[in-house]
Amino acid sequence: MLLTGTGRLAPGGRSPWAIVVRDGRIAWIGHPSDAPDDDERIELGAALVTPGLVDSHTHPVFAGDRSDEAAARLEGQPYTEGGILRTVRATRAADDATLEGLVERRLRAALAAGTTTVECKSGYGLSLDAELGHLRLLGRVAERLPVRVVRTFLGAHAVPPEAASAAEHAARVAEEMIPAVAADGLAEFVDVFADAGFFDLDATERVARAALEAGLGVRLHAEQLARTGAAELGARLGAASVDHLEQLDDAGVAAIASSTTVATLLPAPAVVLRDRLPPARALLAAGARVALASDANAGTYGGFGTMPLVIGLGATLLDMTVGEAVTAATAGGADALRRPDLGRLVAGAAADLVAWDAEHEGAFALRLGSVRALRTWVAGREVTAGPL
Ligand code: NIG
Ligand code: FE
Repeated sequence: MLLTGTGRLAPGGRSPWAIVVRDGRIAWIGHPSDAPDDDERIELGAALVTPGLVDSHTHPVFAGDRSDEAAARLEGQPYTEGGILRTVRATRAADDATLEGLVERRLRAALAAGTTTVECKSGYGLSLDAELGHLRLLGRVAERLPVRVVRTFLGAHAVPPEAASAAEHAARVAEEMIPAVAADGLAEFVDVFADAGFFDLDATERVARAALEAGLGVRLHAEQLARTGAAELGARLGAASVDHLEQLDDAGVAAIASSTTVATLLPAPAVVLRDRLPPARALLAAGARVALASDANAGTYGGFGTMPLVIGLGATLLDMTVGEAVTAATAGGADALRRPDLGRLVAGAAADLVAWDAEHEGAFALRLGSVRALRTWVAGREVTAGPL
């Protein structure tokens, strides 16, 4: 298949362009006049084209509604563990079909908005059975939809009512749950909410080491509510990514920049929580690998299918260039998932592409949240999200 356009490819701005797709991958990319002939040709005109977006941080498996809590927080109520436990109660009470329908709708919304790879965390079940069930549910939905799903086990999201302490729950996650998740191949990563009021550094390290021993990758919720040292812990353990980082300081920036760990920034929940913004410029200046993701979840940001907005927030609020923001939402997210074959328009990469109703990537900033995906390809196949 030969795709051509007279508009821009972003990031980078190549124009005009031609891409040859073979066996689901980009086989060649260059100027249309040099392109090999092909029977199947698709002309995309002046449309902006990017790699399929990679949303490397979401929490889609939940039931219930906490918009009242968001309103109360904006009137001064603090963000506490109670919110997550309220979602755990609602999610445990939901029947399987309802929950599966909710997850499917959320992933369809992501695909409709140009996200072709989405990392999906469990973490609103918290018992062994519920967590395994949620990871299996994600696997079933992923089989039905033409979106790439990467699963993360977040058993250490909050301390469930049946556990005596965070330490006790972390021990169960490490000794009982992670081996079960790994044995059934239900996740590629393990995440921990390593923050003040949730899991301390000892509990986090215990869970992370169990994950590594089981052959799973590690990612951490780090430095969102307080500066705890979770970023350094993640860097030291070789975490694929440390996410949030609103409270990060210069020492944390340096620790991440001198590691292979990706700094994943989540501007949307920072806005909803009226939190500080993560130090994107300092991270980029220090040479850290940066990703942008949505963090769509039950309690601090409810927008599934909003990666175009997240790119716009990166470029406006986080002081990134639009090109840096697009890179962070494509190749950066792919690196955060340890998938260097995704999120890039280079020969050999997966042919995941989106044509947008825009001519220049600056539209992600100018039209904050309202740039639409016109056509989407995953592994060289044109896909549609279906009913939303
Ligand atoms: O990434 N920080 C932890 N988890 C989510 C929020 C979960 C919730 O409040 O339901 C987050 O912001
Ligand atoms: Fe999160």
